[in-house]
Amino acid sequence: MGGTAALRRVDLCAADEVPPGTMKLCEVEDELVLVTNLDGEFRAAQGICSHEYFELDRGMLTGATIMCMLHLSRFSLIDGEVIDPPAEWPLAVYPVVFEGGRVLIEVPEGPLEVNR
Ligand code: FES
Repeated sequence: MGGTAALRRVDLCAADEVPPGTMKLCEVEDELVLVTNLDGEFRAAQGICSHEYFELDRGMLTGATIMCMLHLSRFSLIDGEVIDPPAEWPLAVYPVVFEGGRVLIEVPEGPLEVNR
């Protein structure tokens, strides 16, 4: 009935499991979320390419972008936008919050948004 959807927090991993310049694929609620540490700045995005099924932690992390190694689509990890095709759909990205050394995302109630 209108209004703003309630938010919930989903625990992904310990912050120290993802050192600067690395990434980790975390399984949550039957979905995969890619946590990246861009030189101290954590980001979270859907873990599977929006083009076809390929795990993005097998891709190449460069600056604030991830390149999928199956067909070389490249995405921004800041807003999920497609930088290089063939992918047409952006990656869903999720706001990151920290709690007691853990990395969490804050998302609306209901299924995690994923573009496929
Ligand atoms: S599956 Fe990622 S670019 Fe095709």
